[in-house]
Amino acid sequence: MDAIQIYGGNCLKGQVKIQGSKNAALPILAAALLINGVCEIENCPMISDVYHMLRLMESLCCTIDRDGHTIRVDASAVSRCDMPSDSVCVMRSSIMLLGALLARTGSVSMQYPGGCVIGKRPIDLHLQGLRRMGVVIQEREDGFDAETKELTGAIHRLPFVSVGATENLILASVLAKGDTVIQNAAQEPEITALCGFLQKAGADIEGAGTKTLRIRGVEKLHEVTYRVPADRIVAGTYLAACLCCGGEIFLKAAPCMQMKAVSAAASSMGAEIGESEEGLFAACRERRVMPPGLVTECYPGFPTDLQSAFLAAMTLADGEGVLEETIFENRFRIVPQLQQMGAKIQCQNNRVCVSGVERLHGTNLVAEELRGGAALVLAGSAAEGRSVIKNCHFIERGYEDICQDMCSLGVKCEVRKEFLSQPKALTKKF
Ligand code: UD1
Repeated sequence: MDAIQIYGGNCLKGQVKIQGSKNAALPILAAALLINGVCEIENCPMISDVYHMLRLMESLCCTIDRDGHTIRVDASAVSRCDMPSDSVCVMRSSIMLLGALLARTGSVSMQYPGGCVIGKRPIDLHLQGLRRMGVVIQEREDGFDAETKELTGAIHRLPFVSVGATENLILASVLAKGDTVIQNAAQEPEITALCGFLQKAGADIEGAGTKTLRIRGVEKLHEVTYRVPADRIVAGTYLAACLCCGGEIFLKAAPCMQMKAVSAAASSMGAEIGESEEGLFAACRERRVMPPGLVTECYPGFPTDLQSAFLAAMTLADGEGVLEETIFENRFRIVPQLQQMGAKIQCQNNRVCVSGVERLHGTNLVAEELRGGAALVLAGSAAEGRSVIKNCHFIERGYEDICQDMCSLGVKCEVRKEFLSQPKALTKKF
């Protein structure tokens, strides 16, 4: 799929089942490298980032099988070899393999990772932390060589919260010699999921989901089956779709407990929210109002990954509002496209001021990154007339089938046939 065509302007009505979490599945797949045996990872989302990760793992001599949404990884034969640089470069999460591979083989050579163009995204915290654990790292212009005779436990105090650095240090610590403490650790639910997987495999970890993690290195981990939790960002995207379009939706299996800040933001805009073990119900019957200042924060705050989706919703809300981004410096890339649709937005450094308009109009749009691309689908669904969103391969990095999901919620949208071409990573069979 490389373009989605939407005839927007109607209210939503319908339900959709929320896929497994991308940001939980990727580090859990990397963690499977630590296990000298077979792991079964259930409810794994079938998205291009997962395909890239599996391709990288195959290049490290893992055997991968797939049955629906269950991935079986046999990492018994893992050995050091070069990872294909195209997969390393397209995906930020390839850096997750570093901590696990060092624990398994003691030596890694890789390119600097890629990912969305939402900011500089350095990996200095990852490398500093690993150096503290006895890893010698030689940086090159386009990558680095890392080597260790033995990973040793250490005390890390992260100068600011980083999800990826916390995950990498957890992966490096579980089989290290001695104890590791990570202070100012990220508390995201995806960290808790990674720790859940590792604990089930025999790791000794305390404090998952808090600011301080204590990890006691163990000799080895054993085979495990683990279910990836539902994706709070995908659920939040469709909640924002309801804010954009109005209507009533049910998000089956949405992880309501992990969505408190998002649900609160939606409620403050006038949505009626109902939470249950089965999922999340949302209804927007009146015109939405502006939230009283929305700021992205680390979990449990409002997530940066939903900033663009809520920006799309704010463009149609009544009144004036401000949205502030505190995590990534380049995350307002969709503003010119929303303006092209009639939105009134002014950028001031890391914040935008929005004057709500009554309607957006459909037009030709281009996705430039994952979450911004999904937000364009929402804007197109709310806008009057036809929108065509190109470059949907960015959206496929994190959404299994956003077009099908939006159809289930009552949006008239389809894949544009003339653009139909599967990205290479999705044609691969496991
Ligand atoms: C993860 C998520 C991403 C989410 C982000 C913040 C995955 C696969 N991705 O990304 O969807 O938007 O958390 O919730 O889980 N930083 C440094 N040096 C480092 C590491 C990070 O300066 O070594 C900076 C980053 O540039 C950014 C901030 O720290 O400004 C937070 O980044 P981080 O939490 O590490 O994000 P990711 O793990 O890349």
